[in-house]
Amino acid sequence: MNHIHGKTIILGVTGGIAAYKAAALTSKLTQKGAKVHVIMTASAKEFITELTLQSLSKHRVYSDTFQERDPAEISHIDLADAADLVLIAPATANSIAKMALGIGDDMLSTTMLAVTAPVMVAPAMNVHMYQHPAVQANMKTLAGRGIHFIEPGEGLLACGYVGKGRMEEPESIVDVVNSFFADREMAASGPLQGKRVIVTAGGTVERIDPVRYISNDSSGKMGFALARAARAMGADVTLIAARTDAAPPQDPQIELLRVESAAEMFDAVRSRWEDCHVLISAAAVADYRPKQSAENKIKKSGDTLTLELVKTTDILGTLGKIKDRQFVIGFAAETGNAEMYAKDKLVRKNLDLIVANDVREEGAGFGTDTNIVSIYDAQGLVLDLPLSSKDEVARRILLLAAERVAGAAV
Ligand code: PMT
Repeated sequence: MNHIHGKTIILGVTGGIAAYKAAALTSKLTQKGAKVHVIMTASAKEFITELTLQSLSKHRVYSDTFQERDPAEISHIDLADAADLVLIAPATANSIAKMALGIGDDMLSTTMLAVTAPVMVAPAMNVHMYQHPAVQANMKTLAGRGIHFIEPGEGLLACGYVGKGRMEEPESIVDVVNSFFADREMAASGPLQGKRVIVTAGGTVERIDPVRYISNDSSGKMGFALARAARAMGADVTLIAARTDAAPPQDPQIELLRVESAAEMFDAVRSRWEDCHVLISAAAVADYRPKQSAENKIKKSGDTLTLELVKTTDILGTLGKIKDRQFVIGFAAETGNAEMYAKDKLVRKNLDLIVANDVREEGAGFGTDTNIVSIYDAQGLVLDLPLSSKDEVARRILLLAAERVAGAAV
C-alpha cells in the first residue's frame, strides 16, 4: 500500500558521487504522490544540477539561505514547518558532522536546526570514512536523538574500494520511507487501546549484606522507552523497575512499581499477570543470588571470601510455560553468538518474540540511548534493526506486538 501519497518530504542532497541517485529518488517519491522539496548543498551542485531535481520534483529547489524570492517567506523555517519527513540522501560525513554539532551555515543545515519532523539519513562515503570513529560517534549522537539511519550497502565504491559506504538504492529507500509512514499511521491509531502491557526494566539487586549487592549495568533506558511507546499506542501500562540510572517516565498514566531483587520482580509481575495481554521483559534479572543475605555488614577476615550463590526464579521461563492469552517478549543480552543464544532462550522460555542485543557492539545494550537488535520468533528472524534510538527500537517492538496480538485476538 502507498503510505507516501500526500506527504511533504524535504529531500536534502549533499555533495557526494551518490548525489546522482537523488534524481531517481526524487522521481520515485514524486510518482508516489509526495510533495518533494529538494534542498541542495553547494557541493551537491558539483555532482547534479538544480534543474534536474527541479524538473523531477516539479518544485523550486533550494540551496541558498539568502535567496528569498518571496518576502512573505523565510524559506528554511517554512520548509521545516511543512515537512512530514526529512530525508538526507546522500548524506556525506561532513553533513552528518554538521547535524551532530548543530552547525547551521547553509540552507540545508539551518533547515535541519529548525526541523521538528522525523529525519532519515542515508549515508554515502568511502568505507574508511564510514568506519572513522568521528563519523561513527556522530551517527551515534544522531541516532540517540531519534534520527533514523538507512544503512549504506556493501559493494564497489566510486573510490575503488570494496566495502560498506554505498548509498542504499532509491527503490529500497522509498520502501523504507513507505514502511515508516505505515508504522506511524498504525501507531497513531492506538493499536494497543484496551490492552494491558507489563514492562520490566533495570537491573535487579541481590543483597550480600546491608551495604553490598550483586547487580549489573542496566540503566533502565530500554525498558522505559518500551513503557513510553506502549503508552503512546494506547495501552494501559505497568512498569516494573529495579535499580536504574535513568529516571522513569513521568507519566501518571504509567503505573510504576519499584522492586529490588529478582524475587520481588517476580512477585510484582505475578500481581499483574492475570490482566496482562503483553509482557516485555527488558530487565536484566540476576540468574543467581547469594544463598544467604547477611543481616549485618560482613567484616573483613581471611584472604578470601566464598559466596555461595543459588539460582533465582526464571521469571519469563516460569510465566512463559503457564501463559494462555499473554503475548510474551523476552530480551537476550549476549556477548557473541547472539542469534544462537536468543533462539535457544525463545524456545526454552516459550516466548512469542525475543529481542537479541549484542551488548559488546558499539551503541548497543547497557546504558546507551541507542540499541542494535534482531528480533526472532519461532520461525526465525522477524526484524533486524540497525543502530537506532531506544525509543525507535521500542516503537518497532510494540508495533510487532500490536500486530500479532490483534491477529491472535487475545
Ligand atoms: O537498561 P539498559 O541500560 O537500557 O540496557 C538494556 C538491556 C541491555 C538491559 C536490555 O536491552 C536487555 O537485553 N535486557 C535483558 C537482559 C537479560 O537479563 O538478558 P538474559 O539474556 O540474561 O535473559 C533473557 C531474558 O530472561 C530477559 O528477558 C530477562 O529479563 C529474563 N530473565 C532472566 C533471568 C531471570 N531470572 N528471569 C528472567 O525473566
